[in-house]
Amino acid sequence: MTDHGSQEGSRGSLDRAVELLTGVAPLSIDARHFLEGGPGRARVVPGGVQLEVASAGLVARPKVVIIYEIPPADRRRLEAFQGHLPVQGPLSLSANVQAWRNATDKKLAAECFRREGVAHMDTIALRRPEPEIAYEAFERLGGNVWARPRVGVGGRDVFHLTTRDQLDAAARHYAATGQDWLISRDAGNFTTDGRRHQFRVVVLHDQVLRVCEHVQANLDAPCNESQGAISTVVPVEQFPLQYRRLAIAATRSLGLRFGGVDLAIENGGVIFEVNVHPTLAVPGGIESVAIPFVEAHLPNPCRSQRS
Ligand SMILES: Nc1ncnc2c1ncn2[C@@H]1O[C@H](COP(=O)(O)OP(=O)(O)O)[C@@H](O)[C@H]1O
Ligand SMILES: [Mg+2]
Repeated sequence: MTDHGSQEGSRGSLDRAVELLTGVAPLSIDARHFLEGGPGRARVVPGGVQLEVASAGLVARPKVVIIYEIPPADRRRLEAFQGHLPVQGPLSLSANVQAWRNATDKKLAAECFRREGVAHMDTIALRRPEPEIAYEAFERLGGNVWARPRVGVGGRDVFHLTTRDQLDAAARHYAATGQDWLISRDAGNFTTDGRRHQFRVVVLHDQVLRVCEHVQANLDAPCNESQGAISTVVPVEQFPLQYRRLAIAATRSLGLRFGGVDLAIENGGVIFEVNVHPTLAVPGGIESVAIPFVEAHLPNPCRSQRS
């Protein structure tokens, strides 16, 4: 189940992984049917759940429901549906609504990191602050901060701020777009040749599945491929154990069993965020991430069909 309106491309990787593991293609359901107010109906039935979308002629009693590629802004509207998925058992990896909230809402994420002792940069949440309140927060964080929307929009609306004028402009932008926001102290995540530098680390339970290094020449731009960063896959075993452990701890601190962690290793290592659905449309994404992720949903007899 994915948002069929999304262009991100993870759905194809998941479909392929299901086929490789089980020998059959999955039934691909548009998650938008099951958002609050949508035509989809879910009923708990003996041994599982029945999904129906009358207008689409769909009736299914899946053994496994895999949910992916749900835009952050829509996740709250999927919660009632997730409530029908048993927390224990093979349908379980997407049933933890609170974990999704913790990861999707960066204010909640920062609170979880603080509570669980997961290293991250000092963060202050803002809504529509008076200028003096914003200046005070900005100075408290060293006058060199990153501003982000409280609910992410894929690396957009993220600003590196080093002056009060920039802070004012960011405040106006978030007010105009109706977003709550956060400012965090700059992580100083530079390579020795002075470029921005971070990693995307995909975690499943207590394992790291994939590590990708990002280097960004524009020091004021997020270190994301979509913003011009250069990405290189790093063999997991070459990524230092302490940062693998940091990524695993960050994922667990939110209540997630799977996540894509954005982290910097400079100055001891800090977490920026944990993505509920890291994109799978990346080099090696099917083998390294989609297959183990799908496999973690499958009951044992199904898994043993893998040749
Ligand atoms: N404190 C910080 N120091 C340095 N870079 C940061 C900081 N906070 C955010 N960034 C950069 O901005 C990017 C976007 O922030 P992130 O929390 O990953 O949100 P999203 O990807 O949802 O937009 C980060 O991946 C990182 O490149
Ligand atoms: Mg990110």
